[in-house]
Amino acid sequence: MKLRQHLLLLCLFCLISPAVWSQKYDSSWESIDKRPIPAWFSDAKFGIFIHWGVYSVPAWAPADAPIGVYAKYAEWYWNKLLVNSGEEHKYFKAFHDSIYGSKFQYQDFASQFKAELFEPEKWADVFTRAGAKYVVLTSKHHEGFCLWPSEQSWNWNSVDIGAHRDLAGDLSKAVKAKGLHMGFYYSLYEWFNPLYKSNLEKYVDDHMIPQMKDLVNRYQPDVLWTDGEWDHPSEKWKSTQFLSWLYNDSPVKNSIVVNDRWGKETRAKHGGYYTTEYDLVHDKKGIDKAVTHSWEECRGIGTSFGYNRIEDLDNYMSSKALIDLLVEKVSSGGNLLLDIGPTADGLIPVIMQERLLDMGDWLRVNGEAIYGTQVWRKSPDKSIPGVFFTLKGNDLFVICTKWPQGPIVIPGIESVQTVSLMGSPIKVKASANGSLTIHPPAINPANMPCQHAWVFKVSNIGI
Ligand code: GLC
Repeated sequence: MKLRQHLLLLCLFCLISPAVWSQKYDSSWESIDKRPIPAWFSDAKFGIFIHWGVYSVPAWAPADAPIGVYAKYAEWYWNKLLVNSGEEHKYFKAFHDSIYGSKFQYQDFASQFKAELFEPEKWADVFTRAGAKYVVLTSKHHEGFCLWPSEQSWNWNSVDIGAHRDLAGDLSKAVKAKGLHMGFYYSLYEWFNPLYKSNLEKYVDDHMIPQMKDLVNRYQPDVLWTDGEWDHPSEKWKSTQFLSWLYNDSPVKNSIVVNDRWGKETRAKHGGYYTTEYDLVHDKKGIDKAVTHSWEECRGIGTSFGYNRIEDLDNYMSSKALIDLLVEKVSSGGNLLLDIGPTADGLIPVIMQERLLDMGDWLRVNGEAIYGTQVWRKSPDKSIPGVFFTLKGNDLFVICTKWPQGPIVIPGIESVQTVSLMGSPIKVKASANGSLTIHPPAINPANMPCQHAWVFKVSNIGI
């Protein structure tokens, strides 16, 4: 009898204790890939990427040269300067030699990465007002320079040289204080690290994994955004061993989200969410709404991730284009991680601030149609130009990136309760009977609820 009681109690305990139920992950992709992506990530939809490092000092790339997309990244300055493969090298070298002289070494920029005007609370305020829900900062890019006091990176980090400040830690505190999720980008490889070049295994064991664990233990981030994985398969990086630690034993095991950049074979296949970059997965066309796995598009506002001083207005996307981009990605199931490149003195260029705040203004009116929504999988096969859909429960959001000039007809909807124009009290006429017809009201432009894109909320659709 006693034994039975014990068993009963044990069963009850198992039912109510999530700890007992929590899954253990072994170090195979099969096991790691079973871990669900924490829901906060797919609800968040919009994050801010920040590329900030020693490359923010020269802050230059040939933005308008007739060369490929990846060749215009200012954060690749050191590599493009020294490695003579690809035609972009000549642009970087000509620039460097003429401005700094051929004897000036990239390492010498580090003392100029001072961040003397950096006020993390101000950055966090801009991100909050932009309507972003998470932030991902380059803790270490391919140059190997760390934005935190990494023991493994002596004298090549922002505390030992330049700013003399724990930039990653200070930003993390400010971002979390605003209630946003904080994450770190981390490059697995380092272009010129002698240990990486001479002994990969030792680099992974004594440098890379200790650094990633240090970041996780010290700052408890919600995102670990790895990159620079393409030289080796995930086995060599010991990625699954690290991920099993992250998911089983780390202090963020329940909240952390990772991406798919864990080895040359892993993008859009293994890890956490899939990534596209300027709409590409490596050199292939990105992901569309047929993909049900979580994914995220990242790109700069212009042609680079790191700040590029020579970019002008023509290189930057307009606020309208950025809002359209967010709508397009979210309606096809993705998140948008929009990058900004702060300057070496610690400021977010005003034009970038303006773009972000414009997005925030739009999201304040229309956020319900973005955050926490899903793809409308039953949307009509034939797309309607300028019209996008998102779904939340039984409510359908019809997002128009142009103000519609006539009725919008959406097939496949049997009935509907009400249709409203988000942010406006104006009545919207609509009827449903096999298909839904929305008659956009005539509104004086001065009374428009927002600019750039407009949302009709269709409550309680019957399909
Ligand atoms: C890349 C680049 C890089 C950028 C990034 C963002 O692969 O090497 O400079 O940080 O991805 O997606």
